Amino acid sequence: MTENTKNIIKATAPVLKERKDEITETMYKILFEKYPETKVLFKDATDDQPKKLANAIYAYASNIDQLQNLQKGLETMVATHVKTNIQAKHYPMVQDALLTSIKQTLGDACTSEVEEAWSTAYEFLANILIAKEKEAYLKA
Ligand code: HEM
Repeated sequence: MTENTKNIIKATAPVLKERKDEITETMYKILFEKYPETKVLFKDATDDQPKKLANAIYAYASNIDQLQNLQKGLETMVATHVKTNIQAKHYPMVQDALLTSIKQTLGDACTSEVEEAWSTAYEFLANILIAKEKEAYLKA
């Protein structure tokens, strides 16, 4: 991830914090509409799942320069994802839904530069999770 990408993420973190619940609720709507096969993965999810994802995204954005702070949160995500059988193929679906939601929610404030930065940052985080989950599946 380049410094420029990190700077854009940091600059947009406050807007994201303000609207994070809206962004994730829209994200789930888009995800389930466009990729109905993901619905079953969330069958045991509680109503606060959008909040958990929203908080994780905000924590990520505000710690983009010190990712070691996210260690504990990442462990929890990996454990829950493995329990619910999340696979690498699901990540691009969430990426599409999340980016579409950010664009819809932020409107004109989501320039193509902002969109690209968030896409890159999402992929970076997704790759960390995918690698850790792969390891956990191998151990299981
Ligand atoms: C970078 C991407 C992602 C982030 C930051 C993220 C974040 C989280 C967080 C914070 C939790 C709650 C963990 C806990 O407190 O136990 C969670 C759970 C979960 N995530 Fe993800 N996640 C991501 C990608 C995905 C993908 C791609 C899927 C599949 C479409 C997915 C499906 C789920 C499911 C099914 C749960 C458990 C819901 C439940 O039963 O309570 N996540 N995720």
